Amino acid sequence: MDPAAKKKALRLLSYGLCVATSRDDTGLAAGTINWISQSSFTPPLVMVAIKADSGLHRAVAASRIFAVHIVGKSQKELATAFFRGAQSAAADDTLNGYAVETGQTGVPLLLAPPAWFECRVVNEVRGGDHTIFVGEVVDAGVRSEEEALTLRDTGFAYGG
Ligand SMILES: Cc1cc2nc3c(=O)[nH]c(=O)nc-3n(C[C@H](O)[C@H](O)[C@H](O)COP(=O)(O)O)c2cc1C
Repeated sequence: MDPAAKKKALRLLSYGLCVATSRDDTGLAAGTINWISQSSFTPPLVMVAIKADSGLHRAVAASRIFAVHIVGKSQKELATAFFRGAQSAAADDTLNGYAVETGQTGVPLLLAPPAWFECRVVNEVRGGDHTIFVGEVVDAGVRSEEEALTLRDTGFAYGG
């Protein structure tokens, strides 16, 4: 295989940009992710690939709950703020400086993104440096009509 072709071809996949959150008994966890897709209508399932050595992975593996927030077109800064995971949580009110509320599963829900959904893990596939968690969507909300930011809009790359 030509490694440059592999990198280029994989980076031509199109992605949105989302912030995933979770929590375990050590606290809140978060990370900006792009490896995510819906994977079933009935029940509504999504699959997310989470970096095995991250705080987000530790929390999702332990608590089996996570939320995904769609990042809006004007919210590149929000995506950037979560590249380093959960840096600071002031009680349960803010995460990395962004306001949160608590969802029905107990995960933190960011108030700024235009839409979110909350999941319970129903399956996982380990392998490589990320784990695929399959989550059933158990609640969702829309806070504004802003369109979604795409990975290509940002100039960032994750893949290859
Ligand atoms: C553009 C971009 C896309 C990313 N996509 C993912 C992803 O799909 N899955 C993931 O687990 N981490 C992804 N990351 C990494 C996380 O944002 C972040 O580095 C990680 O959750 C931080 O974890 P830690 O500080 O708790 O180790 C991405 C990073 C960047 C810069």
